[in-house]
Amino acid sequence: MPVTILVGTQWGDEGKGKATDLLAARSDFVVRYQGGNNAGHTVVAAGELLKLHLIPSGILYRHVTPVIADGVVLDPGVLLQEMDALEGRGIDTSRLKISGNAHLVMPYHLEIDKVTERYLGKHRLGTTKRGIGPAYADKVARIGLRVQDLLDPSIFRQKLDVVLKEKNLLLARLYNRLPMDADKIAETYLTHGKRLEPFITDTGALLYQALREGRNVLLEGAQGTLLDIDHGTYPFVTSSSPVAGGALTGAGLGPREVDRVIGVTKAYVTRVGSGPFPTEDTGPAGRRMGERGVEVGTTTGRPRRCGWFDSVLLRYAVRVNGLTELFLTKLDVLSGMSEMRICVAYEYEGNCYDDFPPHQTIFHKAQPVYEDVEPWPEELDGVERFEDLPAAARKYVDRIAELAAVPVRHLSVGPDRRQTLAVPG
Ligand code: GDP
Ligand code: IMO
Ligand code: MG
Repeated sequence: MPVTILVGTQWGDEGKGKATDLLAARSDFVVRYQGGNNAGHTVVAAGELLKLHLIPSGILYRHVTPVIADGVVLDPGVLLQEMDALEGRGIDTSRLKISGNAHLVMPYHLEIDKVTERYLGKHRLGTTKRGIGPAYADKVARIGLRVQDLLDPSIFRQKLDVVLKEKNLLLARLYNRLPMDADKIAETYLTHGKRLEPFITDTGALLYQALREGRNVLLEGAQGTLLDIDHGTYPFVTSSSPVAGGALTGAGLGPREVDRVIGVTKAYVTRVGSGPFPTEDTGPAGRRMGERGVEVGTTTGRPRRCGWFDSVLLRYAVRVNGLTELFLTKLDVLSGMSEMRICVAYEYEGNCYDDFPPHQTIFHKAQPVYEDVEPWPEELDGVERFEDLPAAARKYVDRIAELAAVPVRHLSVGPDRRQTLAVPG
């Protein structure tokens, strides 16, 4: 059963790019299964720093076939730019495979994302404004255009004309924007389509066949559990399903292929955009995490909100994803804190919740119940073995594993591929 699913356990930016790059060494295929270029995954290896948005983080290895699967929404112009940028740095992108079933992010999706956010005013979600929500909305409404439509210009044009009629009414009448021109959109997209044609294939069939031949497949999640459309902090979520179940629908594989589900977990918590965040710390401790962890959005450049480690969220992620192990990142960022704590439960109106609360109001108003933990002054970025970590840092990791009831198997102490420790036990 050689499929491994890798998911974020928080609100994204847990270090999935780094974890995927590391695990890709032993994978034949690395697959993005949902989201679009709202994602920003950073890989640091062999002196290269890569910021990837659509291309799977396994791209650096020559033996890996990177796959953009059915569940992704794809902006073809952005993808081609990303491919060109990688090629410009000597990274071969010719092995990339793209599902014909993936939906296209269209120019009107970007515009609608922008104007609806503006329209929501102080109630806005703080989206990445990459057109992701409107593209998924059209997919579900069955008026989306797909990658395979790029291969048939007359079908593409027919579908575009139908959809654009409605979108232009919406843009012009409700949002006071200029209507969009179908000729221009068709020309741009069909030109992109010609360049992408050699990469488009039935990725579900490809992966199924590879698995029958004993190959290893790594499914790389974007965003995180708490941003999931069904299981996240709705409505402050993204419009896809980053959780392990979404990995299967997104890639088109069945559950019996999977033997590992890895939860990437940051040693503290961050969030970009609006929405509740019980352990957020807007004081000096949170600022220090943000500065040492360079917590600035990879996609939008927005500062990320920072806060204490939250084991209620982690237990929830264990449950929702069926996690078999944890990949704990950015422990090095916490060195030298004057005091430290972990959230073990929430309190609301005299009740204690050690599992994710069943109602949004409780989560919005929850007060974290903290347990103090011992800080450590030593820097960790040069540590090469788990045993060589300061005792307090080891205790922190052990406590997280204990609270999650799932083992930590990898521990990251810096952005580079080499700054990763195997955790014994
Ligand atoms: P992703 O969206 O989950 O792939 O995460 P991002 O790449 O958006 O954000 C994680 C950031 O932390 C990136 O800049 C990584 O290079 C960096 N990073 C990953 N792991 C570590 C770590 O263990 N320590 C430090 N200091 N930085 C890390
Ligand atoms: P990676 O893969 C962090 C957040 C946005 C916003 C909400 C909805 O790098 O972890 P959207 O544009 O998706 O409609 O925005 O989701 N968001 C992310 N936050 N990391 C991401 O991706 C994110 N992708 C979307 O900030 O709050
Ligand atoms: Mg990111």
